[in-house]
Formats: sequence, C-alpha cells, structure tokens
Amino acid sequence: MTADHQQADAAAGTNQAARGVRRRTLFKTAGAAGVTAALTAGGFGAGRLSAAQDIDEKLSLIGSDIVDFYGARQAGVGTSPQAHACFIGLNLKPDTDAKGLTRMLQLLTDDAARLSTGTPPLADPEPELALRPARLTVTFGFGRKVMDLLNPQLTPEWLKPLPKYGIDKLQKRYTGGDLLLQICADDPLTVAHARRMLLKDSRYYTTMAWIQHGFRNARGSYPEKTTMRNLFGQVDGSANPDRGSENFDYLVYGEGELGHIPAGMDAEKGGHLKPWFPNATSLVLRRIEMNLDTWDELDRPAREMSVGRTLDTGAPITGGGEFDEPDFEKINPHGFPAIPDISHMRRSRSDNPDEQIFRRAYNYEDVPDAVWEGEADEDTAVSNAGLLFASYQADVEKQYMPIQQRLADLDHLNIWTTPIGSAVFVIPPGADEGEYVGQKLVEHT
Ligand code: HEM
Repeated sequence: MTADHQQADAAAGTNQAARGVRRRTLFKTAGAAGVTAALTAGGFGAGRLSAAQDIDEKLSLIGSDIVDFYGARQAGVGTSPQAHACFIGLNLKPDTDAKGLTRMLQLLTDDAARLSTGTPPLADPEPELALRPARLTVTFGFGRKVMDLLNPQLTPEWLKPLPKYGIDKLQKRYTGGDLLLQICADDPLTVAHARRMLLKDSRYYTTMAWIQHGFRNARGSYPEKTTMRNLFGQVDGSANPDRGSENFDYLVYGEGELGHIPAGMDAEKGGHLKPWFPNATSLVLRRIEMNLDTWDELDRPAREMSVGRTLDTGAPITGGGEFDEPDFEKINPHGFPAIPDISHMRRSRSDNPDEQIFRRAYNYEDVPDAVWEGEADEDTAVSNAGLLFASYQADVEKQYMPIQQRLADLDHLNIWTTPIGSAVFVIPPGADEGEYVGQKLVEHT
C-alpha cells in the first residue's frame, strides 16, 4: 500500500484501529440511546440486540466498516469506491421554499450521519437493516434550483445542463434533477435501506426524477486498490489522479497545485483551477449505454486499439505496466502511431494538465427494453448494460467539457457507446457535527 493510499484510507475513516474504537463507542453510547430504543420500538427484545453485538465483535466483517460522515469534505468522493451505488435525482416540489429545503437537509443529514455509523435513523421501521453500515456514504449534490434557494451568489456559472453533444441520445428518465443523493456501500441491503429512509424523509419536499443503480466487484473479490473493470472487460480508471495525492486535491477541489504532470501535457498550460467554495467539488453523472452485442464482434487486438490499452493488465499498448505512461510518439511496424489518434485514451488526454477529471464509475446491467415491452425474441439483445460515468472535478467548464467535446467529436469507442442520461451537480463541502450539509453555503456572506 502506498503512502497516498494509506492517507486516503485514513481520511476516509477506514483505519482499522479507529474503526474499532468508533464501533465500541457506538454500541456503548448510541447503543443505549439509539439502537436499543429503536429495536425496542420495533418490537425486539434485548436478546436480539446482544446477538447483534456479538456479531459486531468480529471486526473483520466488512459490514462493520465505517466511513466518517462528518468532515470538511463530504465522503463518497475520495472514499475508496464501495461495491454498490445508488444515485438518486430529486426535483423540488414547486412549494418547497428555502425554509422547507433547509428543514429537509437537516433531516437527511441526520439520517445519513446515523446510518453511516450503523445507527437506525429516527422512526426507522426496520432498525435491524441499519446495523451494518458496510462503509455507507451518502453524498449530497445540489442543482441550480437548490443553490438559488440556499445562496445564489455562490452558484458557479457552469452549474447547468451540459451542452447537447452530437453523440447524445438523452432520456428524460436519466437526466437533470435539483438534488442528488449518492448512496454507496459494500452491502446492497444497506444501500436499499438507506435509499428508503432518505426517500421517506424527502418525499414531502421533493419528487423523484430518477434512480440509477450501479455495481463493481464485491469487496474482497480482488485486493483493495485494484482498478475496476467495466462490462467491456476493460481496466477502467488507471489514469485517475491518486486519491489523497496533490493532483487529487488540485483537480477535484481546486486546492494547491499539480505535482505529477502526465505524459504529453504541458505544465505551463495549467494552474488555473480554483475552488468554487472550499472543500467543494462537482459531479457530472452520465449514463452511457455500452453495446455488448456489437462489441462482442471485435477481436481482441481491435478492442485494445480502441482505447490504447491492453485488456489483461490495462497497460498502454506501447508497453510497461498499468500505471506506466503511454508512448504517444511510438510508431508501429506499418508506419502508424502505435496508439491510434482516434483511440479513447489519445482523444481524452489533452496537453493542458487542468483538463483532467476524477472518475468513480459504476457498471449497470438492466433488463433489455424489449423484455419489459413483452416483445423479446431470439434477436433481442441479451444485455442492457453500461456505465454510470461519475466524474468529479473542481470546475466542470474548464475540466469536463473540453474532454467531453473532444470525445463527442471523435472517439473510436463512440461506435459502441451512447450517452443516454446526463446531470450536473455541485458537491458542497461536508458538514461538521451539529451542522447540516449545505449550512456552510447558507452562512457564507
Ligand atoms: C462507456 C463509456 C466509457 C468507457 C467504456 C471508457 C473507458 C475507458 C478506459 C478503458 C480507459 C483507459 C484506462 C483508464 O485510464 O481509465 C479510459 C480512460 C479515460 N477516459 Fe474513458 N470511458 C468512457 C467514457 C468516458 C467519458 C464520457 C469521459 C469524459 C468525458 C472519459 C474520460 C476518460 C479519461 C480522461 C481517461 C484517461 C485518459 C488518460 O489520460 O490516459 N471516458 N476510459
């Protein structure tokens, strides 16, 4: 494990020793006041509670792992990605004013903080489902309407829908939204319970715009820090800034400056990012359909050329290991660039080092539409799959948009991929204990 990774894990609150202390504290303090009350209210006796406690002694269980909810930055961005994610887009009801919004944010913050420590929220009808946080994080994102109610002066210029790109086939059921709840955990039941509790407490103020579920490998299938694979079988996320590194702070939060400059980039062109608010960032969520049936028709070398990386290790096709820099100057025996100019890696990399993003994507796999419509036959695609492409950056306009424009203009992967959903949110700073998420924006003068 590198120093960066250790730092990132410590920041994410997954440090073993700290976790042990927190769990013990939780069951001594919240155990009496919160868990017991909730279990008793739910009709369960002390016997069941001590069984839960016994299980809890086995700290090796990943269900017991806690990520701190409170802190300068919201959890769920720099947190080592959990196995399961649910992204929820909500729209404010027309009569939800600033007061109602604040009330809801208070409620949801309280719910999220409790759930993240394995404590049932108030009035939880199924408190047993809350006892395994499994590194649960709930990350709040705000759209323009929410920002306008909280503190319009802070609203960044780029907080609006992305321009319409030629490759887009956006569907309303995956697009827009005033408020985002990003729920991630290593246990799908934890995600489901958190989703239900948060939606119950938001329904008076909002309506659901969309809900999208995603997954990665189950925790423990691969060593921690293994880069994820998408459903094309590609290693996806290798060129990401390292969580906890100087580059991460600069590119995701606009703080400090770049340390490492990747191959083909010119340090002189960068250095223009600033935080839109301290410890705040942004999320662009794109739902991108991946056509597995036509992808299946490609042979392995063609698949590797489409990105410029090998399928087995994710290393650049010009040689080295996964994290070695590609050699964009290398010419193949036929006299062409070894990494094709139209490859996804070549097209997504700019010479401006500010044009980098932090990707924390999840796979999705749904029922093919023809099945829902009762029209499935032997020609029906067996898959309806893709990526919930979640990109975090300090500035959507300076970082995300130029990359997306280049890819929309030309990217070999476009043959097999289609964006069908799109949403942009600011991710406000975290809350300190006793505060609600968004309070720092409201109180800023
Ligand atoms: C389904 C759609 C997509 C797939 C399957 C995909 C897949 C990949 C893969 C396999 C890599 C190489 C390994 C890595 O560094 O992660 C990569 C790199 C990258 N992708 Fe994508 N990607 C998709 C969409 C996008 C979109 C929409 C963007 C941004 C608008 C994007 C931006 C990038 C960037 C910036 C890199 C790193 C390039 C570098 O500097 O080496 N990708 N992608």
